[in-house]
Amino acid sequence: MKQLWSGRFKESLDDLMLRFSASIAYDQRLYAYDIEGSIAHCKTLRQAKVLKPAEAQKIIAGLKKIEQEFAKGKFQIDETLEDIHMNIERRLTEKIGPLGGKLHTGRSRNDQIALDIRLFLRDEIGQVDRSLKQLGKVLLGLAEKNHGQIIPGYTHLQRAQPILLAHHLLAYVEMLSRDRDRLADLAKRVNVMPLGSAALAGTNFPLDRHYTAKLLKFPKVTNNSLDAVADRDFIVEFLSFSSLLMMHLSRLAEEVVLWSSSEFGFLELSDRFTTGSSIMPQKKNPDAAELVRGKTGRVFGHLVGLLTVMKGLPLAYNKDMQEDKEPLFDTVDTVKTCLDVFSGMLKSARFHPLSPEALAQSGFLTATDIADYLVMKNMPFRKAHEVTGKTVAFCLEAGITLEELSLPQLKKISKVFEQDVFEVISIENSVAGKNVYGGTAGPRVKEQIRRLKREWH
Ligand code: ARG
Repeated sequence: MKQLWSGRFKESLDDLMLRFSASIAYDQRLYAYDIEGSIAHCKTLRQAKVLKPAEAQKIIAGLKKIEQEFAKGKFQIDETLEDIHMNIERRLTEKIGPLGGKLHTGRSRNDQIALDIRLFLRDEIGQVDRSLKQLGKVLLGLAEKNHGQIIPGYTHLQRAQPILLAHHLLAYVEMLSRDRDRLADLAKRVNVMPLGSAALAGTNFPLDRHYTAKLLKFPKVTNNSLDAVADRDFIVEFLSFSSLLMMHLSRLAEEVVLWSSSEFGFLELSDRFTTGSSIMPQKKNPDAAELVRGKTGRVFGHLVGLLTVMKGLPLAYNKDMQEDKEPLFDTVDTVKTCLDVFSGMLKSARFHPLSPEALAQSGFLTATDIADYLVMKNMPFRKAHEVTGKTVAFCLEAGITLEELSLPQLKKISKVFEQDVFEVISIENSVAGKNVYGGTAGPRVKEQIRRLKREWH
């Protein structure tokens, strides 16, 4: 097969080399963007009087027909043509004759591919944001529905202090809010139009690049032709955003796995998002959460992979950069699926309230409240910490909970204890006491829900 660039070559491409250098297997995914970009380029050529109106019209009609062939699954991909750009150009020439060869005037595949990925990513960012928003809303809904329910809060995975389940869920909504911010911010740098940069230097043809940008709804054009064809920062940024998002999902996945175990027992996943074991009939496995946690690895890998591809490249375009597409596509697919699976899994899950009595049974969750109580009675905090530690030790020895202590027992540990200490020992009062902005007290959590609902409407 004669390559479109074969003019200066005497021998044809080795089969092995052909397969090695081709990107068509995966970049065919960009066909609609490639055609959209070509139509805009064609209109720009017409406006610059490089193409006659009738020529432009014929080219555009041909491109639209090719788009339909793709949409109907009728386009015959030619594996021997390296990439999507060549496949479309060859087909255009088949359809409209040598005139098809005029489309590539003032353009290189270097600015063409830069445009295609930007168009693709711009679309995908919209979809990722919608999935992200949906998950945030599911979490907000769960926070509202389970408002008032208390769980142990942990540090070092040791029971620490009682908190509202809603407060815990909203912590993830905060993370997702930051993710959305990052996505919106990087979208600004994706949304820049590179055509007109051609191979690297710009073009001899008087193309009005701002006109092309307007046609393709880009608010900005790239400022430097070398940078425009060599820049993949916007993909790295997307992979970085995705890595952070996946890190958040993976942390939540880990909690879902823990919470749905019989050891924790806070959460029951629905049959629709769990799987059974082929050997142990009693098992209901949290595979959805585990897979999200597992898939985080490939997204981190793609980020480091692309950074490594880019790090040694001299300006401008280098073929290495063809390696940007598979990690990008896989990341987009992984992130969207993980977000949607998470929404489905959580929406259909049920939380099992722990009774305050059950909470009181272990973990001495209100020990810090006792220390604060002693401080309120004018004891220095360090001393109060020690006295409370002794109280816990006493309970452990006697095999009782803080609630089960009697006032005489407490008085033996410190004279400062009075009857009112039993108010602070209560799990509910402990939660209600954390009434600072951002704290876990009921009204504060309601305040968070109200604010987040406004932000995520
Ligand atoms: N398939 C190539 C890529 O993805 C398109 C650009 C090719 N440019 C070139 N000068 N060979 O990077």
